[in-house]
Amino acid sequence: MNEPEIIFVVAMGENRVIGRDNVMPWHVRSDLKRFKALTWGKPMIMGRKTFESIGRVLPGRESIVVTTDPAYRAEGAYIVHSLEAAVEKARELAVSLHSDEIAVIGGGEIFRQLLAEADRIHVTEIHARPDGDALFPELDPGQWMEESREAHEAAEKDDHAFSFVQYVPKASADVT
Ligand SMILES: NC(=O)c1ccc[n+]([C@@H]2O[C@H](COP(=O)([O-])OP(=O)(O)OC[C@H]3O[C@@H](n4cnc5c(N)ncnc54)[C@H](OP(=O)(O)O)[C@@H]3O)[C@@H](O)[C@H]2O)c1
Repeated sequence: MNEPEIIFVVAMGENRVIGRDNVMPWHVRSDLKRFKALTWGKPMIMGRKTFESIGRVLPGRESIVVTTDPAYRAEGAYIVHSLEAAVEKARELAVSLHSDEIAVIGGGEIFRQLLAEADRIHVTEIHARPDGDALFPELDPGQWMEESREAHEAAEKDDHAFSFVQYVPKASADVT
């Protein structure tokens, strides 16, 4: 099997906000469904704050939690103390899960540090500009291109309209 690809799965406002006070500043059920579909059966890498924000290990996926705290424990999750260890554990789990992808699910600190490793970014762009204290990093247009965009009106239980957008790294030949 080839090396699994590293995908990012994120919902962000038009102002790049992804969180406020350790929660997402909107309720968009359509995004939660998409999150489930994109992460199902895969190893997921997340920061300790994101794990605590979710509040539990999500079923049908393996959770790898990154923290600097050597005493940190969470039942059902793999705890690691560096991003290198997180990616190594995720690769190992991808083999046993027969998954060809590893999902990085945030938050801001983790997205920023792993951006150079990402093979694909799945963004749910929430059409709102909420206040927040966690941001998704800027994507350098010289490095990343928008591959697809699909606009959606707010469905039932969605606070806002949104778009599903995918970014991929520009082919190395295109990078100046
Ligand atoms: N909208 C979305 O799609 C989405 C997705 C995920 C999260 N969020 C939001 O984002 C916010 C959380 O993001 P955040 O940036 O504040 O936190 P985070 O990235 O979830 O977690 C940060 C924590 O991860 C650990 N960490 C980070 N880099 C590390 C490294 N290199 N080695 C070891 N440990 C490391 C540290 O834990 P210790 O402090 O324990 O050492 C750090 O405090 C919340 O508001 C959440 O709701 C939104």
